[in-house]
Amino acid sequence: MTSVLSRAPHHELAPYKSLDNDALTERIERVRARFGTELLILGHHYQQDEVIALSDLRGDSYELSKMAASHSDCRWIVFCGVHFMAETADILANRPERRAARDGRRVGVVLPDLAAGCSMADMAAIDQVEAAWEELGDVLDLADITPVTYINSAASLKAFCGRHGGIICTSSNAQAVLQWAFARTRRVLFFPDQHLGRNTALHLGITNEEMPVWNPFAEELGGHDEATYQRSRVILWQGHCSVHQVFRPEHVHQFRQRIPGIHILVHPECPQEVNDLADISGSTGKIIRTIAQAPAGSKWAIGTELHLVQRLKNEHPHLEIHFLSPIICMCATMYRIDLAHLCWSLENLVAGTPVNLIEVDDETARWALVALERMLAVS
Ligand code: 13P
Ligand code: SF4
Repeated sequence: MTSVLSRAPHHELAPYKSLDNDALTERIERVRARFGTELLILGHHYQQDEVIALSDLRGDSYELSKMAASHSDCRWIVFCGVHFMAETADILANRPERRAARDGRRVGVVLPDLAAGCSMADMAAIDQVEAAWEELGDVLDLADITPVTYINSAASLKAFCGRHGGIICTSSNAQAVLQWAFARTRRVLFFPDQHLGRNTALHLGITNEEMPVWNPFAEELGGHDEATYQRSRVILWQGHCSVHQVFRPEHVHQFRQRIPGIHILVHPECPQEVNDLADISGSTGKIIRTIAQAPAGSKWAIGTELHLVQRLKNEHPHLEIHFLSPIICMCATMYRIDLAHLCWSLENLVAGTPVNLIEVDDETARWALVALERMLAVS
């Protein structure tokens, strides 16, 4: 369980909404100067430009986890991203040895807008995963299944993996994590993103016939018979990212037809049919590095969140960069973090009335940390 603490009276959000970006930026800079190294603002690559500009560090999910794990002297982490990222930061920044070194003091982790969730993470609830695990136990040897959760999941699911010999992955280390799992067991239960699970396992030579998709709403056994699971190597959860789901194979074909020589670069949360057609697939960090190294004049169509693609386009005018879909698809929840929320949450820190604190309970954090540390040791 994650608890959200807030102490009244605090600054209300509404007045911040009427300020323009210059005024908000100035006030945010004042808070940053006042806290110095005691404050760490982390920004995921999908954040709006003005938020990224005020972040001390930016990264993909894996890089941000490492940053939260390694910063030892800060007092506050303000996470400009989504809920599961703030939970992960809380678990890593407040792991027992770190807290002991700080005489028990917690690093406070703030999510500027509590409505910044992840619809994919919400597609696997802990009671559904526990029920699936129990049902699978009727037809398979559970000792021969490693549960793997994408980092885009609630802390309770990470804890489930910790308790059951499992592990966490991000889009940048999924292949190494699956290899780790297959060195231990014959099968993997992968949640919540079927696409990342499938795209990664296909690279390891596992076939679609060996990857049934578990439907948590099916009446029995996730919608398949026992024989299907006996053949399985990866049991995929029926979850997806609604942002990356909009990229279609026809978009790739249209670009290749229209712009000969164009390179297709996508995130592995895209469906298999898109991923298979792409030239390069990788995390947001890999997408950024690929574009940073691209030769002048080269042409790219990128299949990931709109704000990142737009930023890459602005930062690399010597390249021709297109958004892969004709339909605008941005992550509406990432977009909820704006300068008004950031300023509001920061000034409440100054006032001593922190808002939107994300704190994972000790028992959940303990087991989630087991799975996170396995991941950090793998990659
Ligand atoms: P990255 O780990 O690639 O940054 O992905 C996070 C995410 O939510 C993509 O949708
Ligand atoms: Fe979740 Fe998709 Fe948004 Fe990433 S882009 S945070 S997976 S909804």
